Amino acid sequence: MALVSKGLEGVVAAETRLGEVKGAEGILFYCGYDINELAGHVSYEEVVYLLFHQHLPNRAELDALTTALRAERELPQGVIDFLTSAPKSAKPIDVMRTAVSMLGCYDTLRHDLNMGEHRATAIKLVSQIGIIAAYFHRARQGLSLPPIRKDLSEAAHFLYLMSGEVPSKEAEQTLDVAYVLHAEHGFNASTFTARVVASTLSDMYSSISAAIGALKGPLHGGANEGVIHMLEEIGSPDKVDSWVADALAQKKKIMGIGHRVYKVLDPRAPHLQKMAIKLTEQLGEPKWIQMSERIATIMREQKGLNANVDFYSATVYHSLNIPTDLFTPIFAISRMSGWTAHVLEQWSDNRLFRPLSEYVGKAYGQKVVPVDER
Ligand SMILES: CC(C)(COP(=O)(O)OP(=O)(O)OC[C@H]1O[C@@H](n2cnc3c(N)ncnc32)[C@H](O)[C@@H]1OP(=O)(O)O)[C@@H](O)C(=O)NCCC(=O)NCCS
Repeated sequence: MALVSKGLEGVVAAETRLGEVKGAEGILFYCGYDINELAGHVSYEEVVYLLFHQHLPNRAELDALTTALRAERELPQGVIDFLTSAPKSAKPIDVMRTAVSMLGCYDTLRHDLNMGEHRATAIKLVSQIGIIAAYFHRARQGLSLPPIRKDLSEAAHFLYLMSGEVPSKEAEQTLDVAYVLHAEHGFNASTFTARVVASTLSDMYSSISAAIGALKGPLHGGANEGVIHMLEEIGSPDKVDSWVADALAQKKKIMGIGHRVYKVLDPRAPHLQKMAIKLTEQLGEPKWIQMSERIATIMREQKGLNANVDFYSATVYHSLNIPTDLFTPIFAISRMSGWTAHVLEQWSDNRLFRPLSEYVGKAYGQKVVPVDER
């Protein structure tokens, strides 16, 4: 009998040069660079280059990538029309999934591209995904769509399009670090989804649409939105203990806590925790971080579970005045670099993913009884 690993836990499904999550030690690295070496020291654009080329860019290489990313900032009019006509009540992450799929309809060459052309598609998606999210957010409020700009970084451009104003240096740097921290994470559910679709030799847009669909689930990228909903429901620091006790008694999952791979602290969490503390202090709204810290302590002490990347990122985005339903979209914006790099890697040495399943249904040999006699 074949060995069944529910959720593919512990199964190594392919080799990768892009990133590794060492769950027992709490280490994450991209192409050999520890996340602590990267966060706060390189820009998101440098990380995009690193994931696409497996080395950090020199100045000329970075300038070339930055120019290529900014050159792709114009969305097709049909996609803009979709963003302005989509139901205002739609979830931004669903609109993004649909818009990425739609972008594929404009790229008529996509079935016979070489690796360089596939990389150009990846650059286009990295560039356009944030614009899609920001423009839909503007459109659903009945606001005008700010003209795209080519003088702003990926992080600053998203904040500018979303709010209509060029962000402060600090807001830009905060989001840039968040982008760096979320860019790559091994064979997580959405990346694996992208690679499975790519392994059929389907196209980049289909792989990424599927990945966005996987990311939105509350057990994956959707957890950061769940954290803010939880903090809002709790309301104040003095209510945390009883709320968590009730939730655990009802066997509810506490959003932003626990991880399939990390059995110690998620190395991305302390970076976001530091930013969350600073931002909430500046805003004079310490209750969010106070509630978060108490939840983290209870979960660590009572369940031996630690905060993950989504736990503090929720407070960081909230403090940047980003609406809650754009939290998972921001995860998607930054993970676009990781997803597309994985699709490129899959195609560089492709083998169709086709696992087996263990059949546990009715015994073999059932006989068909005519419909009126059943
Ligand atoms: C991420 C997640 C799906 C991993 O689940 P998993 O692989 O089953 O985790 P583990 O095997 O380590 O779980 C061990 C135990 O802790 C419990 N547990 C794990 N995360 C928990 C959480 N957030 N709240 C309460 N209990 C939790 C599990 O139910 C399990 O309990 P059991 O042994 O009584 O069945 C899970 O931790 C979770 O749902 N977290 C909340 C959602 C989230 O933040 N997702 C983002 C991940 S980056």
